[in-house]
Amino acid sequence: MLASGRGSNLLALLDAIDADPDFGGQVVVVGSDRPQAGALQHATDRGIATLLVEPPDHPDRAAWEQALIDGLRPHDVEVVVLAGFMRILSTAFVDTWPDRILNTHPSLLPAFPGGHAVRDTLEHGVKVSGVTVHLVDDGVDTGAIIAQRAVDVLDGDDEQTLHARIQDVEHVLYPQVVRLLCHHRIERRGHHVHVHPPAKEPS
Ligand code: GRF
Repeated sequence: MLASGRGSNLLALLDAIDADPDFGGQVVVVGSDRPQAGALQHATDRGIATLLVEPPDHPDRAAWEQALIDGLRPHDVEVVVLAGFMRILSTAFVDTWPDRILNTHPSLLPAFPGGHAVRDTLEHGVKVSGVTVHLVDDGVDTGAIIAQRAVDVLDGDDEQTLHARIQDVEHVLYPQVVRLLCHHRIERRGHHVHVHPPAKEPS
């Protein structure tokens, strides 16, 4: 997982993995661009490897990104789960794990992409927002959509209250989608995603 922030999605994912012996994957490393990211501390507390790759330590974005790729590779990463990772990834990164990089975004994309989705939602005055889980491409929140859930915007909501309700939904939906990817049930066809039914148990 890559995260720049609090790491609540990491905790939700770890809980989901713990609760399901057939989840199909484990968190092998948590990476960040920010030393103060809560996700790094959560990982350390649970004995999960961490990777810190700070942009100022590298001459340019390409070098930073290459360092991130090089840092992840030894962990045999098969799926990259982004949660509040505040960096845009280029084709070099995206093509290293094709159709195996996920992001969760706190709006119903394509409405309100970018780093201030909840604020933008409230400023616009829309009545329904939500969560989008999508594959990552090299754009800003433009990858093929896998799943979405709606969350009502309530009178009197501020950024904190709306984001908290969106996160309650996100913490359920995101692990479900990660599980689908671990079970190879997600297939991208152009900009559309098909979710395959579960494989039949041999009788
Ligand atoms: C999530 O709400 C995600 O949708 C957004 O950033 C937030 C990260 O939260 N992109 P956390 O660090 O997992 O608590």
